[in-house]
Order: sequence, then C-alpha cells, then structure tokens
Amino acid sequence: MKTGLTRSPQQAAEFIRGGGIVAFPTETVYGLGANIFDLEAVAKIFRAKQRPADNPLIVHIADLGQIELLASTVSENAKKFVMQFFPGPLTIVVGKSANVPVLATAGLNTVGIRMPRNRVAREFLEACRTPVAAPSANLSGRPSPTTWQAVSEDLDGRIDCILQAEPTEIGIESTVVDCTGEAPILLRAGAISLEELQVIVPETRNRDQANSKTSLSPGIMHRHYSPAGKVYLIDRDETVDLPGSAGYIGIHDRPEHFRFKKVSESVESYAHELFEFLRDCDRQKIGTIFCQTVSEQGIGTALMDRLRRAAEE
Ligand code: TXA
Ligand code: MG
Repeated sequence: MKTGLTRSPQQAAEFIRGGGIVAFPTETVYGLGANIFDLEAVAKIFRAKQRPADNPLIVHIADLGQIELLASTVSENAKKFVMQFFPGPLTIVVGKSANVPVLATAGLNTVGIRMPRNRVAREFLEACRTPVAAPSANLSGRPSPTTWQAVSEDLDGRIDCILQAEPTEIGIESTVVDCTGEAPILLRAGAISLEELQVIVPETRNRDQANSKTSLSPGIMHRHYSPAGKVYLIDRDETVDLPGSAGYIGIHDRPEHFRFKKVSESVESYAHELFEFLRDCDRQKIGTIFCQTVSEQGIGTALMDRLRRAAEE
C-alpha cells in the first residue's frame, strides 16, 4: 500500500470516509484513525499496528453531540468531566452503545471517548463526519509518535494517509478516567492530573486505591514505549557506570560524557521530548539509555508512569 501524505485535514478525512485508515495529529500524540462504525476499517487499525485484540481503542469526537452516538449511559460524573475538560487531553470511559463494534472496545461493554483540542485534529474530525477510533499511531510496543515523521518510520506502507502537521504539544497520551462506577477511577495518568479531576469530582481515585473490577484497564499491561536500547531510570545524585555508547535525558545536566544527551528545560519539556528522544536513540543505535526520575506531581506523574514502562524488562 502506498501511504499518501497531506497537509489538508479535508483530504485526509476523505480516506476515512472511504473506509481507510489515517494518521492525524492531536495535542497529546499522533493517532491512527478509522470510522468507528466501519468494522473492516477498525480491523485495519489492529493489523497495521500489530495491536493485540484485547487492547481497546479510544473514540475521538468533533463535538459533544457525537457522545450520544457512542454511549449508552453517561453518568453525572462523566458529564462534569466533559463540561470541564472537553476539548482536551482527557478520555472518559462510559457504557457503550450497541452501535459501537466490540472489536473496537476489545469485547468490553464500555467505550473510551475523547475530544481533542488541537486545531488540525478538530478540522479533521469535523470533516470525517463520524466519530473516529484511534490508538496512538505507532507499531504496537514502540514509543508513541509525537511527529509525523515518527509515524512514517513505523507505518509507511501500512496505512492510507498521514496528515502532516506540527509536533504534538504535550507529547504524552491522554489521561483516562473510568466513569462507570460510583467513584471515578484514574486508569492512565496524563496531562490532566488526579488532583485536577478531584477538584471536579472529589471521590476520584487512583487505580491502585480502587479494588473493583473496573480498576483493570485492558491494554495497560501490554509492553509499551520500548526503544531497542535498554532504559535505566536514575536519580539526580545517583552515579552511573557508563558503557561505550549511552544516551541521557533529564532536567539536570550531568558530568559524565554521553554520546547523546538531552537536557530538558522543565518537566513539561521532558514529557514533550521523551518519546522522540527514545526514537532518536534507536536511530543512532544507542544501546543504553539513562532517564532521570522526576517528582510525581502534575505531568511528572504521567512522565514517571511512561518512564517506568519504558524501563520494564
Ligand atoms: O492521547 C491519547 O489518548 C492518544 C491520542 C491518539 O488520542 N491515544 C492513545 O490510544 O493513547 P492508545 O490506544 O494508545 O491507548 C488507549 C488506552 C488503552 O490501552 C486502554 O488502556 C485505555 O486507553 N482504554 C480505551 N478504551 C477503554 C475502555 N473501554 N476501558 C478501559 N480502558 C480503555
Ligand atoms: Mg498507544
């Protein structure tokens, strides 16, 4: 398959309307989209990414009116989050309507819904005239793409089109919150923190503090964010044993000589730069990658979550 490149959201949307799969930017990471109501198109996403079938997709909407096409029930808590955080980097999990294919939700009776705030994403979603199922636009297990070039590295020849735009602003995937139970449960940390959710619904809990069935987010157990090199997490004052070729990313400079180094200006920039840095290490065949730990507040919580997963064996 030849992968088309375009800067026109309308042209990219034509591929969706024709049953194809298209990579598009959002404020978090690039997504790989298909018409949620087209079963064959949704199946193409799983094939192109080599994604395990038990990992549910998030459905992206252009306007709040599309929620009723996807959800069977929207709890009061879900409505509060929608009013406060849509459009933005938040995914709400609610009961799914019968129209949504179970292939997209990995057999669950719930569906994740998100309305991106990125301008190009919104123009694209509007032109699609249907909600769009979209996981991150990387091969399964690889770091999520924050540039269209990273999408191309993983998926060129496997998808119909890439909507080319700027690098994404946040660089880490959306916060996912399950709103189906009595108290909302944070399933995946992201740019919107637990504290911010608690301002709106004080009962909101972390996954590990909740012990109900809904605390399990399928797909979260899968291998994630892995570059080819081995990732080690280090604290600021920790000494490291440098092998021949090592990379480093963090918010503090270090005295050792690294072959490839990135010192980010803030925790926000670190989050913004991490996935592209991991891909850069692969491009330069760097076998050992040191990543500085950060304190778990604000986006630091989401960043530490991604760092821990990248460092998993
Ligand atoms: O920022 C993002 O969320 C990006 C952009 C493209 O929107 N998308 C993204 O999708 O990160 P993906 O497929 O890489 O991650 C989706 C995750 C799943 O692995 C799962 O953990 C959670 O969202 N999820 C989706 N639907 C769910 C559901 N019905 N119940 C529980 N968790 C769900
Ligand atoms: Mg992903």
